[in-house]
Amino acid sequence: MNYSIALIRGDGIGPEIVAEAQKVLEKVCSTFGHKFEYKEVLLGGASIDVHGVPLTDEAIADAKSSDAILMGSIGGDAKTSPWYKLEPSKRPEAGLLAIRKALNLFANLRPAYLYHELKDACPLREDIIGDGFDLMIMRELTGGLYFGERKTIEENGVLKAIDTLTYDENEIRRIAKRGFDIAMKRRKKVTSVDKANVLDSSRLWRKVVEEVAKDYPEVTLEHMLVDNCAMQLVRNPGQFDVILTENMFGDILSDEASMVTGSIGMLSSASLNETKLGLYEPSHGSAPDIAGKNIANPIATILSAAMMLRYSLDLDEEADAVETAVQQVLTDGFRTVDIMSEGCIQVGTKEMGDLIAERIAKKC
Ligand code: IPM
Ligand code: MG
Repeated sequence: MNYSIALIRGDGIGPEIVAEAQKVLEKVCSTFGHKFEYKEVLLGGASIDVHGVPLTDEAIADAKSSDAILMGSIGGDAKTSPWYKLEPSKRPEAGLLAIRKALNLFANLRPAYLYHELKDACPLREDIIGDGFDLMIMRELTGGLYFGERKTIEENGVLKAIDTLTYDENEIRRIAKRGFDIAMKRRKKVTSVDKANVLDSSRLWRKVVEEVAKDYPEVTLEHMLVDNCAMQLVRNPGQFDVILTENMFGDILSDEASMVTGSIGMLSSASLNETKLGLYEPSHGSAPDIAGKNIANPIATILSAAMMLRYSLDLDEEADAVETAVQQVLTDGFRTVDIMSEGCIQVGTKEMGDLIAERIAKKC
């Protein structure tokens, strides 16, 4: 089959890790008989450098007309990069928020999985890790504090900043449904995370999630306050299956969950809307300090490409092949520096891409 893929290489390590994911996708094509046509789309700093803004209407149109979007990472060093001299609405991150909103990518899936081979990289004690863990954070991505009204004003000579946290019941319902749907394909447990002891938006969240739960009698629902969840993630991560939560809480908890897996360089993500279109990106940032050094871990981007095959293109067998290849490379002892441990073989970004691509094969 032919597919059109929008490629957002982005900033920092973005271009390097996307190149490796593309290498793996090309191997998928030759192995399974597909053809991918790539469209280069500028976002973030790369777009500012060319167009003066982090996202153009043309970029949105190109992304919309593709079957899926694969992204590296955006942003630079806030202290030294000229992009951060611009007003906040013109900075790289604003472009990312704008594309999420423009494509209505409200459902952000962030899996956190502990590979047996990476147990040594996990910062938790062995008795806490137990048999490992495999959880999915379902983060609402187009509402809440990120998109509410915000302003900074001066009142009687005193500066005051206001950010607004808004959710309506429809926004909560659609993400909750996604969370329960995913749980049905996993271990059938949803932990809905909120701050219902303080926030009205969380009380509405809880009410709507409970309504949605009635349509999924096989799924066990529990509610957890976000502060407790942050603690439970390092106390007993194995208790979680699907964590369903609003935008800001999901941003914070997903970084925590990723660190618990040993390296943020391993975690993929998918941002989906009501159609098949999705944007796939690693959960980590653009790491400008290591850009261009061939040391970044491309696995999160390669696993994001696997999610793209699965969720946007319905190519499950191909997605399995990519995930299996990643697993094999780890079993064979190859590591980038961020996940390196004694007795393993350290490789660079490109070598890691080659090793994974080499292992793409059809199941016999
Ligand atoms: C993420 C990032 C973004 C977010 C930033 C870059 C705006 O941290 O995808 O988690 O906060 O959503
Ligand atoms: Mg984040």
